[in-house]
Amino acid sequence: MKKIITLTVNPAIDKSTSVAGIQPNSKLRCEVPIYEPGGGGINVSRVINELGGISLCMYMAGGPAGNHLRDMLVDLEILQQVIPIAGWVRENLAVTDTVNNQQYRFGMPGPLVNEYEWKNTLRQLESVLSEGDLLVASGSLCPGMPVDFFAQVSKIAKKEKAKLILDTSGKALIKGAQAGVYLLKPNLGELATLCGVKTISFLDVESVAKDFIRNNPCEVLVISLGSQGALLVTNEVFEYVAAPIVYQKSTIGAGDSMVAGMVFALAHGKSMTDMVKYGVACGTAATMTEGTQLCKKKDVEELNEWIVSNTDATTKMKIKA
Ligand SMILES: Nc1ncnc2c1ncn2[C@@H]1O[C@H](COP(=O)(O)OP(=O)(O)OP(=O)(O)O)[C@@H](O)[C@H]1O
Ligand SMILES: [Mg+2]
Repeated sequence: MKKIITLTVNPAIDKSTSVAGIQPNSKLRCEVPIYEPGGGGINVSRVINELGGISLCMYMAGGPAGNHLRDMLVDLEILQQVIPIAGWVRENLAVTDTVNNQQYRFGMPGPLVNEYEWKNTLRQLESVLSEGDLLVASGSLCPGMPVDFFAQVSKIAKKEKAKLILDTSGKALIKGAQAGVYLLKPNLGELATLCGVKTISFLDVESVAKDFIRNNPCEVLVISLGSQGALLVTNEVFEYVAAPIVYQKSTIGAGDSMVAGMVFALAHGKSMTDMVKYGVACGTAATMTEGTQLCKKKDVEELNEWIVSNTDATTKMKIKA
């Protein structure tokens, strides 16, 4: 199995609780909170762990919340490399109102990071990477970090002959993609950002995606389509993988679970098509769990078996290259 490294520069502690009725200007007595490690790459490492794989989870962290995050990952037996920073790891809050069963999610921006700290992250990354490794850079940047940070990650990956999988958004995604990536997994909104357009309709996605892959230093493009599944696009292939219909509880973590599944499959030498099928199985499995919970291995295996054995359903919808 190939070595997998995940990089999270803006990790989080996700705190969730519930309360009976959210009212302004009154004391809301919440239930005992649940704490979970969060942030793109950290979620990817958690899913790889659930699937029975190993990854090195690298992340920038500081403060008491940073220590809490480290302890939670130790409990999960995830291999980790903490890059120390002065600022505190952010804590996000999700509160479910049990009266109307609505969830309110409050996301924090992350600590201010200085130049020494982010450059130190790049240095540590360089010393860890070696030829053939799969590097997943996922999630947002922290305040104070340059918008071309993932472009600098790309340069290091290229120099060390590692394969970069990038899952981020906005300008950081554009800069990273321009510098060169092995695999990108945008949703339709992120693909629109990458292509400099407002929206992309299902009717246009084929030509837009083919143009993108022809004109950008990206080998594999997997466009995730939520409940519709995903598209695999390379210079040779244009394929559609449908997502099975499941009883859905929460779509939180679907994207990270999908990326984790694809990287896990790549590490095991699977074909591109099988990689996307496994990714869709993981993404869809994540929608079957409550709240911020990620996918469960048992669900992934059942869904993957269904997707693989219903190839007819998939190929019927395959769009010709
Ligand atoms: N409602 C759903 N039903 C079935 N599968 C789903 C659903 N939503 C997502 N998935 C699965 O998860 C994969 C990734 O979902 P999506 O396209 O929403 O990614 P994303 O926008 O990156 O998500 P995130 O908000 O977690 O970053 C899809 O390709 C699909 O396999
Ligand atoms: Mg996403």
